[in-house]
Amino acid sequence: MTALTTLEADRASALDAMERSGRVDDDFLTRFDAQFPRLHELFARLYGGRADGQEQLALLAAEASSAWNARPLELKVRDEQRLADPEWFASERALGGVCYVDRFAGNLAGIRDQIPYFRELGLSYLHLMPLFDAPEGDNDGGYAVSSYRRVNPSLGTMAQLSELAADLRTSGISLVLDFVFNHTSNEHDWARAAVAGNPAYEDFYLIFPDREMPDAYERTTREIFPDDHAGSFVQLDDGRWIWSTFYHYQWDLNYANPAVFRAMAGEMLFLANQGVEVLRMDAVAFIWKQLGTACESLPEAHMLLQAFNAVLAMAAPGMVFKSEAIVHPDEVVAYISPGECQLSYNPLQMALTWEALATRDGRLLQDALERRHALPPGTAWVNYVRSHDDVGWTFADEDAAALGIDGYGHRQFLNRFYTGRFDGSFARGVAFQENPATGDARVTGTTASLAGIEAGDAGGEDRVLLAHTLALSTGGIPLLYLGDEVAQLNDYSYADDPVRRGDSRWVHRGNSPRDRYAQRGNLDTAAGRVFRRLTKLIAVRQSAPELAGNDLIGFRTPYTSVIGYQRPGETTRVLVLANVGDREVRIDPLTLSGFERSAFDLIHDVELDLDEGIDLPAHGFVWLRVTPL
Ligand code: GLC
Ligand code: GLC
Repeated sequence: MTALTTLEADRASALDAMERSGRVDDDFLTRFDAQFPRLHELFARLYGGRADGQEQLALLAAEASSAWNARPLELKVRDEQRLADPEWFASERALGGVCYVDRFAGNLAGIRDQIPYFRELGLSYLHLMPLFDAPEGDNDGGYAVSSYRRVNPSLGTMAQLSELAADLRTSGISLVLDFVFNHTSNEHDWARAAVAGNPAYEDFYLIFPDREMPDAYERTTREIFPDDHAGSFVQLDDGRWIWSTFYHYQWDLNYANPAVFRAMAGEMLFLANQGVEVLRMDAVAFIWKQLGTACESLPEAHMLLQAFNAVLAMAAPGMVFKSEAIVHPDEVVAYISPGECQLSYNPLQMALTWEALATRDGRLLQDALERRHALPPGTAWVNYVRSHDDVGWTFADEDAAALGIDGYGHRQFLNRFYTGRFDGSFARGVAFQENPATGDARVTGTTASLAGIEAGDAGGEDRVLLAHTLALSTGGIPLLYLGDEVAQLNDYSYADDPVRRGDSRWVHRGNSPRDRYAQRGNLDTAAGRVFRRLTKLIAVRQSAPELAGNDLIGFRTPYTSVIGYQRPGETTRVLVLANVGDREVRIDPLTLSGFERSAFDLIHDVELDLDEGIDLPAHGFVWLRVTPL
């Protein structure tokens, strides 16, 4: 075993390992040379103290070189296209969809049959929820992965997955899969070897003989799934304790061991070679642990992502990462850069959309759009209304305080509002991971149920559209949770299912609502009306180049219920005004005096004279093409 030494010596040892593992392609070598100094520096910072640092780095380089040799030609062609147009994801035509393979279409063959529908919707990105081999029964919706190289047999095979990726590609749709890299299931081969006492694999996880270290760590960590187990550890049958942030069958990997990094980089490149174009980096905040800290979003978590990014740039340069960090907004943006994650969920905009709908007050969201929306070039938000997970109120307390709002109390109110414990609420949501010790909770429910359609509230459909109007027009990639476009309602049957009963997120993960899809052309139904209005918005978005990219300029009106912003194009702008209030408001000509008088209403296809002002009905919105004076 050799520790890391100098850049030159470690490069020589890497080249040697590459040559021993097979041919070293010229293109690969060029990219290797461009990335190696960065990778080496990160390795030195992360693994400088390890006796096996150089050896693992060399093995990693060899693995990357072999992965490049195995990369199918059509993916190398795709790499070239992506490198020539690195902001391909920021187009006004970008649109994502997400679904569970089994719940939406039964299996991978069923997903393939849905491609015409995905095209009808205009998708350019399809996120299939984790579809890998996982324990029978409870497996956190697939987020407990037993093999990254085997598709869950009930869904199909790896060969089918790469064929599907190719079919999607031909249809202009990029396949997005999860990289569940913070933990494996307790049935993964590595986990079994660790339990059996194999020291190399014991070092893949964080295992302690007694409670001393777990107690020490837990003094500063937070409980993520307290309904499942207290703290961050669970006990093995032999009495030892293993780190387990989420469910007891999901064991956190030990990234302080370079062999773990190397092994996971190998799994990543394997997936890249199946035709995956975006990897959703699951639970990024948790990947590095250090005693005395919260063990979330530590500097090393960023270094690890940068190191994965460098490996990607060597061996699958067209692929990009999407960060899943559902944390404080300052921490969310820290993961976003061309050298780390090019894409990220925008949990702040998501949560504040629901916040504004509940309060009928758009100010927190307006401030966030003006102060927290900007991103570095070469990156983009993924804007969504809801995901397969809960809605957590991740706004910054300091932002709330600036408006005189107490963050803790406001979260309590929002939880009560969305779980129907607040008089007059239109929402039908369910609490998730309610923690009596801290008063913390999050909310689950489909968009239609949270927005008031389930409760029969007159504003329900408008609110579904209002929420989507924001996701579709603030920039980046808008992401639809499939089913929401036909106003899918909550499915309470999970409560009778012994496997799912304990996790209320299943309330919004129902099977594909066939009846609602069948009604999507029928305007006498909520499904039909929502579908018609939403697909209209999608079509308008696709025809408005101003909506590409991420630039956004706030637009203030005299009303706290109105959220306003402009998306600048070359000469024109799209002005979006959205009213979360229950009353109509009138935007007067003076407020609109910065624009030429003639404007165009993109949604209703009509010319407007701004001297007449704009009437915004309750829960109404407009997208206007305006010309600044
Ligand atoms: C991510 C997933 C969530 C899962 C967790 C553990 O947050 O979105 O569904 O429970 O990671 O893998
Ligand atoms: C996952 C969980 C969510 C939790 C978050 C923490 O997204 O589903 O409940 O708040 O991780 O990062």
